[in-house]
Amino acid sequence: RKRIVLDTDPGVDDALAILYLAAHPGAEIMAVGSVHGNVRAPVAAENAVRVLELVGLTEVPVAVGARRPLSQALRTAEFVHGEDGLGGAAGPPPWRRPVVESAAEQIVRLARQHPGELSLLALGPLTNVALALMLEPRLPYLLREVVCMGGAFDAPGNINAHAEANVWHDPEAAELVLSGGFELRLVPLDVTERAWAGSTWFETVTGHDTPLARFASAISRHYVDVYSSLLKDVRGERGCLLHDPLAAAILMDPSMATYEEYRVMVELTGTHSRGATLVDRRGFVLPGTEQHRRRPVRVAVTADVPVMLEKMQQALVAV
Ligand code: BDR
Ligand code: CA
Repeated sequence: RKRIVLDTDPGVDDALAILYLAAHPGAEIMAVGSVHGNVRAPVAAENAVRVLELVGLTEVPVAVGARRPLSQALRTAEFVHGEDGLGGAAGPPPWRRPVVESAAEQIVRLARQHPGELSLLALGPLTNVALALMLEPRLPYLLREVVCMGGAFDAPGNINAHAEANVWHDPEAAELVLSGGFELRLVPLDVTERAWAGSTWFETVTGHDTPLARFASAISRHYVDVYSSLLKDVRGERGCLLHDPLAAAILMDPSMATYEEYRVMVELTGTHSRGATLVDRRGFVLPGTEQHRRRPVRVAVTADVPVMLEKMQQALVAV
């Protein structure tokens, strides 16, 4: 079983990714950390607790993570995920409190306790992972692997023409993590923009009266409204993009994607392109440059979306 530390900003698709992992027989969620992004970090932590409770994972610790990015003002995305981060369907506050340590401290402690064993899945801005790296410079050697949802290369961004949300919310953190020497796979918008859950997919889910199907339908309604209006000319039907579930699926089954190796850089100072992710496709990198010193990461370029959608659906409709 993969032992997973999850870093997340639930967030509708984050919540669905947690449900995906909870249903996966090969996944063991060791701990969850929240981060600012879709909503504020304490709200994201509450939502993570709610989702874990729903699937009976009441022992999994949830830590509140960074409340703001490393060097810019906090910006959240309630207009996409709802005021409560779960499309207005979060319900009453959960009884379980987050743990006292921070999400970054939790990552470091667990990585030291289980060297070489843990997979870190980052589904939000990379602030906690960057802070963890600052606390423990050996982190890249202590973790088995890191999988991040983030970035946009040939695909346009989803915040502006260049920037994907998780990178845009904290470009400095993303740059630190992508240059940090991790065994890292990046799942960018180029593949997640194909993870469209359309009306037939949702009809199947809403047609089942299981607790998870009811929850997924309720939290997705607002998110689907937003995506349907944003992409109405492209998609022509109601639906939404399941970014984070695709990253979770790719973590669990690396062969579900194909990859290209790049040294990924984050634009930190562009007037119009701050938060863009850049790669050099010239086929050579000049020795001695900063870029040359950077360990390449594997960027997902294709992914088996139908398999992810099928497994996501099975997780929701199972009794
Ligand atoms: C990413 O940003 C958030 O809106 C989603 O939860 C996902 O992690 C997609 O760009
Ligand atoms: Ca997310």
